[in-house]
Amino acid sequence: MTKPKKCRRIGVLTGGGDCPGLNAVIRAVTKSAISDHGLEVWGVADGFLGLIENRMHRLDMGDVSNILTRGGTILGTCNKSDPSRYKVGTDDAGQAIYEDVIDTVLANVEARGLDCVVCIGGDGTMSGASRLIERGLPCVGVPKTIDNDIMHSEVTFGFHTAVQTATDALDRIHTTAASHHRVMLVEMMGRNAGWLTLYAGTASGADVILIPEIPYDIEHICDYCVRRSKVGKAFTIIAVSEGAHPAGGKITVKQMVEDSPDPIRLGGVSHVLTQQISERTDLECRATILGHVQRGGTPCAYDRILATQFGHEAVELLTKGTLNRLVVMQQSMITSVPISEVADEQRRVPPDDPVLAACRAVGTCTGI
Ligand code: F6P
Repeated sequence: MTKPKKCRRIGVLTGGGDCPGLNAVIRAVTKSAISDHGLEVWGVADGFLGLIENRMHRLDMGDVSNILTRGGTILGTCNKSDPSRYKVGTDDAGQAIYEDVIDTVLANVEARGLDCVVCIGGDGTMSGASRLIERGLPCVGVPKTIDNDIMHSEVTFGFHTAVQTATDALDRIHTTAASHHRVMLVEMMGRNAGWLTLYAGTASGADVILIPEIPYDIEHICDYCVRRSKVGKAFTIIAVSEGAHPAGGKITVKQMVEDSPDPIRLGGVSHVLTQQISERTDLECRATILGHVQRGGTPCAYDRILATQFGHEAVELLTKGTLNRLVVMQQSMITSVPISEVADEQRRVPPDDPVLAACRAVGTCTGI
């Protein structure tokens, strides 16, 4: 496929794990493409899977009305359908057989007459998009994730809604922790980045915040909890990221999803910590894993606005012929970077992060 001079018909897909605000982007892309530029828009079902299986349908204004506030994605999504490594079956030994099916994708896109595909997703989706771009399919990317870990973008939509959801949960844990004089551990998503835990922990005044970027010392955490109880603080709230791990130790893996581009699913570190603190102190501990509740629900106002700006900018880029770029936020301005620069990379909390500095200044323990 050769690079088109002008986009007339575009596809839009949502890939990877869902998050609040995806529908707001789909709405913004569809509305700006149709009303601002007279383009035809096709919704691709279930991320790259819809490109592989040729499942797409035309989106009109009516299809995207009343979806701004709705969580999830009306298009469906999939985090196991990388076209360059697609599971086509299993061999006699039960081993998965993978094939590169990018030619099938290109043929389906050609047959539908799509000039460009807007890929709304995280780093895995951008890696997939990069490989499609290399083979000649023009794409424009829009970054989503509750993890807030996309390189070159200081924020992604979905993050602030997840922060609010996790903060609400931590606030509720606070009251039961106080009633029972317990150490309460609350585990949050985020993979190898601690943004969600750092922000929700700071917002709710968690006493201990453990993130993957700062490997913890269990003895230090226990001393901190015991010291609190000795000075009359009857309970301790520990906000812990699913990717948190001890210094020199391992992450806690919940399961492996072999046909996913990133097969490791994290989970359970809060239970490990609960046991270790119980063994080392006389304190009573309980763990709560927030899980997928953090990805659900209606997007907060900030995420609706950001998603609308990102979707609009994606259409601006593709109509100007500025293809193969990812819309990002830098210094509070919407701009773009090459999709290839964010593929397979993760943005993590730096040691000099100002939120981290502020929570240390108010006495929060970060595990060391
Ligand atoms: O990347 C988003 C995310 O929710 C991570 O925070 C989490 O580790 C992962 O996806 C969970 O993936 P799944 O939905 O496959 O369980």
